[in-house]
Amino acid sequence: MRFTDKVAIVSGAQTGIGLAIAQRLASEGAAVVLADIADAGAQARALQEAGARALALTADVADEASVQGLVERTVAEFGRVDILVNNAAIASRIQLRPFEEIPVAEWRRMQDVNAMGPFLLARAVSPHMRARQSGRIVNITSGTAFKGAPFMLDYVASKGALMTMTRALARELGPSFITVNAVSPGYTLSEGNLANEAFLARYRASAIATRALPRDGWPEDIVGAVAFLASDDAAFISGQILAVDGGSVYH
Ligand SMILES: NC(=O)c1ccc[n+]([C@@H]2O[C@H](COP(=O)([O-])OP(=O)(O)OC[C@H]3O[C@@H](n4cnc5c(N)ncnc54)[C@H](O)[C@@H]3O)[C@@H](O)[C@H]2O)c1
Repeated sequence: MRFTDKVAIVSGAQTGIGLAIAQRLASEGAAVVLADIADAGAQARALQEAGARALALTADVADEASVQGLVERTVAEFGRVDILVNNAAIASRIQLRPFEEIPVAEWRRMQDVNAMGPFLLARAVSPHMRARQSGRIVNITSGTAFKGAPFMLDYVASKGALMTMTRALARELGPSFITVNAVSPGYTLSEGNLANEAFLARYRASAIATRALPRDGWPEDIVGAVAFLASDDAAFISGQILAVDGGSVYH
């Protein structure tokens, strides 16, 4: 029960890796806000029925007012914010295509959600964390940014931005003893990815072939690293990017 009395916001927690992270933090005692552009009410109720404090809030992480409202409601409900997991992203619904075919509007929305969203959320929680001189921010990046994966240039660029934001934010927030780290999953069989036939065909077998541990990765494989970085055990770790990919990327 590492997170007793802690309050966590997990963005993109309606499904997939985000939901698994919310479930893990709740199982270790955290009060969890499942923030998503989709309705995560059923997922929050399931956690409540299991005895956890959980709340679903609908928010678009790319919208400033929406993010501000999300953090205000969290504080009104639970009194504080100790942990922010920036997981929401345009991810499993990406359409693979050559970069010449990416519409500018898609590029902009990708950066707005995947890179500006974490900025807006970090900015909204920082006064609450700074006031307590403690806090944990964990950004979910992607191995595609290490590898330079083709046919998703807008996605890769957004995750590269999140990696470098992790380092710079760690330095800005460090004087308030707030840590900022990232977890970089490899190809992971979230519900969304399992439903994306083009992804499965292109990445499932090829990802396994690059791994020291030759098997599929599942959302449950990611959550331990996130929980560690969100815990007191990681109090002296900041600005780091931890690859959780079966030993595919070494950096
Ligand atoms: N699954 C993988 O193979 C993989 C690999 C590397 C990194 N990642 C990263 O892990 C995270 C989760 O991956 P996943 O496969 O579970 O993704 P997913 O696409 O299944 O789920 C993403 C969630 O984010 C929500 N979301 C999307 N746009 C939003 C917005 N504007 N505001 C609020 N919520 C929004 C969606 O509704 C959804 O619940 C993402 O950051 C993704 O980039 C995933």
